[in-house]
Amino acid sequence: DWTPGNFIEESVQRIRAQVGDGRVICALSGGVDSTVAAMLVARAVGEQLTCVFVDHGLLRLNEAEQVMAMLRHHLPARVIKVDAQTRFLAALEGVTDPEEKRRIIGHEFVRVFEETARQLGSFQFLAQGTLYPDVIESAGVGGSAAKIKTHHNVGGLPEDMQFELVEPLRWLFKDEVREVGIALGLPPEVVYRQPFPGPGLAVRILGPVTTEALHTLQLADAIVREEVESAGLNRDVWQYFAVLTPLKTVGVQGDYRTYGNVVAIRAVTSEDGMTADWARLPYGVLERMSTRIVNEVPGVNRVVYDITSKPPGTIEWE
Ligand code: XMP
Repeated sequence: DWTPGNFIEESVQRIRAQVGDGRVICALSGGVDSTVAAMLVARAVGEQLTCVFVDHGLLRLNEAEQVMAMLRHHLPARVIKVDAQTRFLAALEGVTDPEEKRRIIGHEFVRVFEETARQLGSFQFLAQGTLYPDVIESAGVGGSAAKIKTHHNVGGLPEDMQFELVEPLRWLFKDEVREVGIALGLPPEVVYRQPFPGPGLAVRILGPVTTEALHTLQLADAIVREEVESAGLNRDVWQYFAVLTPLKTVGVQGDYRTYGNVVAIRAVTSEDGMTADWARLPYGVLERMSTRIVNEVPGVNRVVYDITSKPPGTIEWE
């Protein structure tokens, strides 16, 4: 019988057998998959594991600090944080094409990870939080093989950097990973965290990614999350976030005419992210989001709600 407890025991044995006294490196994102994978490896071989968290500067408000605090508290392994914001922003300067943004971010990510790994010595193993659906998807099995958006992980490392993969979650579905996470003692806000794309806020800023745009979007996005969470709807809604558009419209605030950006709210229900429906958020929640965003986020004077399902829309705007 599959239970999280049995699974943890067996994984620990299997990882020990695979790794022996070798060294393991792992890229962490703060998401449930990479965190659970790292925790299993840490249980199995403790000191032999080094984790790398690349802060590309495209995370949500205060997220890098929160992720590091969570990891320090729950993950008994060495965690290195790499501050690479400047580098990613420079590489993204002036770039507007969504796939180009993804390509640049994926490429920089691999380079930063590679440089960091080299500095830390030599590693024989790379641990990854690959799930069963990822395995099926990359094998091209099951339905639509068409790749709509390129999703990045630590593929594409240089030829001379060959790792043997440690993938303890390879046979699990997302709900099983969550059960394992709970059994390992991770808090619910980590285990039930909404999916967040690897390229982060870069694909939620339409147009060029600048420090100012990032700051604006972080503030608006934090309001959307706070309101969904304080209404107790976070477990019912698959993803909920803000998108910053380069569209400017006229408004009036106090006695003044304003000319500011449009922020879109995106909230969807879904089973697996493959198809999705726009979430019927209560008007009161939408109203609080709108009022707060216009009042609290400088440069934004209009808020719209995205009522497009997937398909034909995608969940992200880019
Ligand atoms: P779309 O926008 O294609 O998104 O409907 C489906 C799910 O995938 C996430 N997503 C990404 N995740 N890298 C990722 O790691 C990406 O480039 C990427 N693009 C979309 C999206 O947030 C949703 O959960």
